[in-house]
Amino acid sequence: MIPQEIIRRKRDGEELAAADIVSFIEALAAGRLSEGQIGAFAMAVWFKGMSRAETVALTLAMADSGDRLEWADIDRPIADKHSTGGVGDNVSLMLAPIVAACGLAVPMISGRGLGHTGGTLDKLESIPGYTITPDAALFRKVVKEAGCAIIGQTGALAPADGRLYAVRDVTATVDSIPLITASILSKKLAAGLQTLVLDVKVGNGAFMPDRDQAEILARSLVEVANGAGVKTSALITDMNEPLADSAGNAVEMRNCLDFLAGRKKDTRLDTVVLAFAAEMLVKSGVAASSDEGERMARQVLSSGKAAEVFARMVSMLGGPSDLIENPDRYLAKAPVEKPVPAARSGWLAACDARGIGVGVIDLGGGRRHPADRIDHRVGFSELLPLGSRVNAGDPIALVHAADEAAAERAAAALAAHYRIAEEKPQLAPVIAGLV
Ligand code: URA
Repeated sequence: MIPQEIIRRKRDGEELAAADIVSFIEALAAGRLSEGQIGAFAMAVWFKGMSRAETVALTLAMADSGDRLEWADIDRPIADKHSTGGVGDNVSLMLAPIVAACGLAVPMISGRGLGHTGGTLDKLESIPGYTITPDAALFRKVVKEAGCAIIGQTGALAPADGRLYAVRDVTATVDSIPLITASILSKKLAAGLQTLVLDVKVGNGAFMPDRDQAEILARSLVEVANGAGVKTSALITDMNEPLADSAGNAVEMRNCLDFLAGRKKDTRLDTVVLAFAAEMLVKSGVAASSDEGERMARQVLSSGKAAEVFARMVSMLGGPSDLIENPDRYLAKAPVEKPVPAARSGWLAACDARGIGVGVIDLGGGRRHPADRIDHRVGFSELLPLGSRVNAGDPIALVHAADEAAAERAAAALAAHYRIAEEKPQLAPVIAGLV
């Protein structure tokens, strides 16, 4: 296999044979390709796209680049959810324990931040002691005993995606339908799932800003996954503003802990978490209807059962057992906190969610290079939702920064990402469709 020949053929718009894709991915997983070659391949795919047959071959080759898990010893449905990536999107952190508390088993293999979007793993690493790379035996034990385990790709699971993902993150090659499809589904196929529900984001903070592209991505994901034997559906959800009221790592973890403990009612986040819980419970055959699924999810939230599952997962994976009760004891705080004042009076009518995600990277909460270390303490919290009425000078968010200069810069940039209008805006529903 001559990598540059495969790259050239893709660059020139040829359809690659499955055997070429398999050889390329084997070489990638074995560390025989340079970052330059991986980046060039990703960029060629970005420009020329892939047929459905190529996308299936890429997905299967990446899934087969490592181990495939089996869960024969667990008698609950094996289910998972994955998002195409958003800003302030911490849904997985709450959803996994909620549906686990309702009877599903959730072995969730998550990713790091990608492009301007945050990553579940980076958020989990704001918990001191939490290991995102347990060995296979511990992973299995946590799924079995706690009901869910959210971990990272180990070298053993879809390692080809791990390498490709790190290069895409810093080469502007994330927003490609075949690459997103293969990336998400290779991890999910390797994890041995029976059912999967996908969150395909649409809007200015998503990789697919327009609705048509989001639907094409949703169909690509749903068809390839169902074709590979995993019962899959996708909800298309709005990403024209951060979903939680926070964007960053420790701040989104804090938001999750408050949500699970019932200390916070966040309507957009509430809607999305409950809709996904219901869809997962219905798809897995545990609830007869969405209404029943939603009722079950609300019940485990209000009874504290979902919080207990989360606490168990965290402590089994090395984190503190009282994290939910005492978040301030464990989540590191940034040295500088600065409110961002509204530039004038009116209604928060629109924001640049992508710009807010880039703002987190600028503060040090995301990566510019695959090897960068990130600062888990930084980001934005108390982001007011669109549709809020503000007076000039009212805080629209709180910046968490490593120093004064970074806080000043981030506050000015954040304020510029919001449009304040005289009229109350008409906002799109947060759940935009089901595929
Ligand atoms: N999430 C993934 O795991 N991969 C992508 O390419 C995008 C979102």
